[in-house]
Amino acid sequence: MITVLGATGNVGSKLVHQLLARGQPIRAIARHSGGLHSLIAGKGEFRAGDISNTEFLTQALTGSEAAFVMIPPDYAAHSLLDHYRKMSKSIASAVRRAGVPKVVSLSSLGAEHPSGTGPIKGLHEHEQILNTLDADVLHLRATYFMENLLMNVPLIQSQAIMGSAIRGDMPIPMIATRDIAKTAADRLVVQDFKGKTVHYLLGQRDLTLREAARIVSRILAVEIPYVEFDVISARRGLIQMGLSPDAAEQFLEMADAFNQGLITGKGLRNPSNTTPTSFEEFAEIFKLALAGVGSAA
Ligand SMILES: NC(=O)c1ccc[n+]([C@@H]2O[C@H](COP(=O)([O-])OP(=O)(O)OC[C@H]3O[C@@H](n4cnc5c(N)ncnc54)[C@H](OP(=O)(O)O)[C@@H]3O)[C@@H](O)[C@H]2O)c1
Repeated sequence: MITVLGATGNVGSKLVHQLLARGQPIRAIARHSGGLHSLIAGKGEFRAGDISNTEFLTQALTGSEAAFVMIPPDYAAHSLLDHYRKMSKSIASAVRRAGVPKVVSLSSLGAEHPSGTGPIKGLHEHEQILNTLDADVLHLRATYFMENLLMNVPLIQSQAIMGSAIRGDMPIPMIATRDIAKTAADRLVVQDFKGKTVHYLLGQRDLTLREAARIVSRILAVEIPYVEFDVISARRGLIQMGLSPDAAEQFLEMADAFNQGLITGKGLRNPSNTTPTSFEEFAEIFKLALAGVGSAA
C-alpha cells in the first residue's frame, strides 16, 4: 500500500493517476471526500481528514509500505511558518507511530538554506524534522511550479499583463507538476532510496518570466507583457488574492531570494534532475484556464 497525502492537489492528483496506472494499491488522503471519491473512482482507498490531526493521520498511514508526504499550504494562516511547523510535526509523528518504512517528501529548491527564502524556510525545517525519523526519507527538492504562473489568469483577463515581484530577466528553473509526480511515482514504486537523501527536480530548462510571458503571448495570440511589480504593489496584490499579511511578506522574501540568486539551480542541473515537460507544452493550459475550463492539470 502506498499512501498519498495532498492527493487532490497539483502534485498529489497526478501522482495518484501515475500509481493507479501502474496497478499499485493506493490510499489517498485529503480533507474533502467528494474530490477523493471522484479521483479514486473505485480503484483504490481514500481517507478524508486533516493532516494536522495526528490520530487521523496515524490511522491513515498504518499499513503503508511507503508514503508520499507534503505540507498543504494555508496562505491565510496568521503565521505561515507556524502552519508549516505544525503540519510537519504531525506528519513526522504519524509516520513514526504508523511505522512507515519509506517516505518520499515534497520539498523545494532552496530548502538547503535555513533563512532568507520565505515559505521555503518551512520546508528547510520540515526536512530536518523528517530526518529525525528511522524511516528512509527521500526529499524531492522541486523547483518553481509552472502552475504558479496560472495565478496570472485574472491579471491577463483584467489588464492583459503577467507580473510579480520576481525580476523578469532572471533565469529560473521551472517544472510542470506532472513531472514531479512521475519522479515521485518512480521512486515510490522502486523504493531505491536508503537513509536520508535529496533529489533535486529542476524542470526542462531555466527560463525568465519575460520569456514565459512571450510564450504565453504566442499561445494566446495576444501580446501579454511581463511587469515587475514594486514591493508595495506586489504586497497589495498578494493580500487582495487572500494571503495573510505574514504570508505576503514570506512571498516577497522568496521573490527577493530569486532576484538575488539565492534560490538557484546553478551548478546543480544534470540528466537525473532535468525533466521532460517544456514551458511551451505546459502553457497550452492557459487557453483552457482563460476559457474557464478545467484546472491546473
Ligand atoms: N508552488 C511551488 O512553486 C512549489 C515549489 C516547491 C515546493 N512546493 C511545495 O509544494 C506544496 C504544495 O503542493 P501542491 O501545489 O501539490 O498542493 P495543493 O495543490 O495546494 O494541494 C493541497 C492538497 O492538500 C489537501 N489539503 C489541504 N489542506 C489539508 C489539510 N489540512 N489536511 C489534509 N489535506 C489537506 C488538499 O485537499 P483538501 O482541500 O480537500 O484537503 C489538496 O489535496 C507546498 O508544501 C509547497 O511549499 C511548492
